[in-house]
Amino acid sequence: MSPFIYFAIMVSMIRRSFWAFCHWSYGVIAKPLLFLVSPDTTHGMMIHMTSVSGRVPLLRGFVKFIFIRRRDERIVQNYHGIEFKSPVGLSAGFDKNGEIMPMISRLGFGFGTVGSVTAKQCDGNPRPWFYRLPESKSLVINAGLANDGSTAILKRIHSYSQSEINNFPIALSVAKTNSCEVVSIKEGIEDYVTTVRRAKKEPRIKMIELNISCPNTYGGEPFTTPEKLEKLLKAVDAVGAKQPVFIKMPIDHEWPAFKKLLDVAIKHKIAGVTVSNLYKDRASAELKDNLPDSVKGNLSGQPTWQRSNDLIKKTYLEYGKKLTIIGVGGIFTAQQAYTKIRLGANLVEIITGVIFNGPQLAAEISYDLSKLLERDGFVNISQAIGIDAKR
Ligand SMILES: Cc1cc2nc3c(=O)[nH]c(=O)nc-3n(C[C@H](O)[C@H](O)[C@H](O)COP(=O)(O)O)c2cc1C
Repeated sequence: MSPFIYFAIMVSMIRRSFWAFCHWSYGVIAKPLLFLVSPDTTHGMMIHMTSVSGRVPLLRGFVKFIFIRRRDERIVQNYHGIEFKSPVGLSAGFDKNGEIMPMISRLGFGFGTVGSVTAKQCDGNPRPWFYRLPESKSLVINAGLANDGSTAILKRIHSYSQSEINNFPIALSVAKTNSCEVVSIKEGIEDYVTTVRRAKKEPRIKMIELNISCPNTYGGEPFTTPEKLEKLLKAVDAVGAKQPVFIKMPIDHEWPAFKKLLDVAIKHKIAGVTVSNLYKDRASAELKDNLPDSVKGNLSGQPTWQRSNDLIKKTYLEYGKKLTIIGVGGIFTAQQAYTKIRLGANLVEIITGVIFNGPQLAAEISYDLSKLLERDGFVNISQAIGIDAKR
């Protein structure tokens, strides 16, 4: 065996051992400690630590060496002129202010979402924003679109040097400011459009995601009816953003109502849909933990799994050729990511899985996904998309 091959095998073994160590130590040491502290404090700490460490070139280099393997053609895809080295992205809500993308880009993610961001800075709802349901593998979210505002956030993203971000595809999730000043439909549309206009000018933003389905906003969830969505998309079309625009869809709509939104989307310059957002119908969710009524908010993680799968499949069957589908909801393993892909998702996203299973999850899923594709005889992931979608 040539020394080069020997060396490559050694590196691969070191990497896998390190991932296994991360997985184990996160579950056995870090998570129990982190879960002793309130989820709001934990989230703040994680963002701060990741942001600071992301600014240190040596640490960035180490993380990249451990988590990014050589290019794996089996999981590389190209959509809308963007190359995704892995189909696994970070979903909206973790990096609300665009502080940790340099590290996210080195943890094995294929893309990362910043936000949701709004035109004006917003303090969000009164704390606490998060509540853990560990047995149910879920979090209750009530952040109320807290963020620094799109001007400040885009400035931060712009400040990343090329070496920090390395052409990593960053998506900007755009919502409307959660404030009593932005209540009417006209004000809401202007709020979205203001951020889209700002994002249009930022070359580091490769995708825009319109979060029409955030349940926390002042004045409810105003753009989830076909009439209002039509107005919003007309205004967004007029901005003429160069980046592909996605819509983050609601999860609680029944299929006929959901399809009506898709019918509107395909008439506009919409590249795809992200399916889906948080689960609002707490009463119907089968939870293993006690969830007191005093805890406000909507569910992430496991309770979103089944509905998101149903909606991905139906969206694929109806509009799979017209819309790129990003599948999100309840992914904790490669097998679960693979299920969504086989139901029609072109790309997938994770967030609760990262919080419950650790920062190595994207790298683990990408690696194991490649093995699942190889096992099933697929040369590229694109051959597996929608293979299980049947009416
Ligand atoms: C802590 C947290 C914050 C979130 N904030 C947002 C947000 O600001 N905008 C948004 O579109 N979705 C938000 N979400 C929803 C996620 O992006 C995702 O759609 C949902 O949680 C399902 O994925 P999961 O099961 O991997 O958590 C948030 C989720 C979590 C867990």
